[in-house]
Amino acid sequence: MIQFLLNRELRSEQTLDPNTTVLQYLREHRGKTGTKEGCASGDCGACTVVIGELVGDRLRYRTLNSCLTFVCALHGKQLITVEDLKHQGQLHSVQQAMVDCHGSQCGFCTPGFVMSLFALQKNRGDGVQTYDPHQTHEALAGNLCRCTGYRPILEAAEQACCAKQPDQFDAREAETIAQLQRITPRETAELSDGEKRSLSPLTVAELAELYAANPQARLLAGGTDLALEVTQFHRELPVMIHVGQITEMKQVQITDRHIEIG
Ligand code: FES
Ligand code: FES
Repeated sequence: MIQFLLNRELRSEQTLDPNTTVLQYLREHRGKTGTKEGCASGDCGACTVVIGELVGDRLRYRTLNSCLTFVCALHGKQLITVEDLKHQGQLHSVQQAMVDCHGSQCGFCTPGFVMSLFALQKNRGDGVQTYDPHQTHEALAGNLCRCTGYRPILEAAEQACCAKQPDQFDAREAETIAQLQRITPRETAELSDGEKRSLSPLTVAELAELYAANPQARLLAGGTDLALEVTQFHRELPVMIHVGQITEMKQVQITDRHIEIG
């Protein structure tokens, strides 16, 4: 079973095709169609969502392409979508900035831009009022517009960053941290629809054991290559072992002679 927060709601999934992407899960299983599919190959950013996760006892936000992320990768995390930003009838400040600056150009790309801006705003330190164009370009580098251009969106980014106000996510931060601590993975998680399955071990030793027992399994890390087999080539992956919960597999070490990944 995997467990995650869909914004505030605790979701537990046990019987689900592990070849389901987060984008399919949102749109087809949860009826949340605000997140869009543009390319389904990680190129356009229309499907951008934000993940909240614990780093130590702090909450960290990052964007990801939901079209390339299998749902098992949500285990122990918070998933925030564009539907979650509006609060008590008020647009979030990043949405309002897009409106004010005429940055809302088409319905496919705008939700993705909004989520990237949301993560950008969230990851700026409290009280930081200066605008950093380089940081903004980095944050929006994965979001493409094919129609109009980026100037209004960059202006919206500047407004959103400079006018950062505490929002509902700040108000609920302690509650969210407590919720995530309660669902922190403590053992290998399995997701299965009876035929296909994904396994998410926590240690290298467990990974080795599972891989020995399932030599046909495909190893899943970020999924930027593997997910294309499902979304572009329409193949099925019968067994996946997700390495994203294993601390050692997420480390990048740079020495004077080489780079060691995982
Ligand atoms: S739909 Fe284009 S990056 Fe996901
Ligand atoms: S905003 Fe969608 S193509 Fe330009």
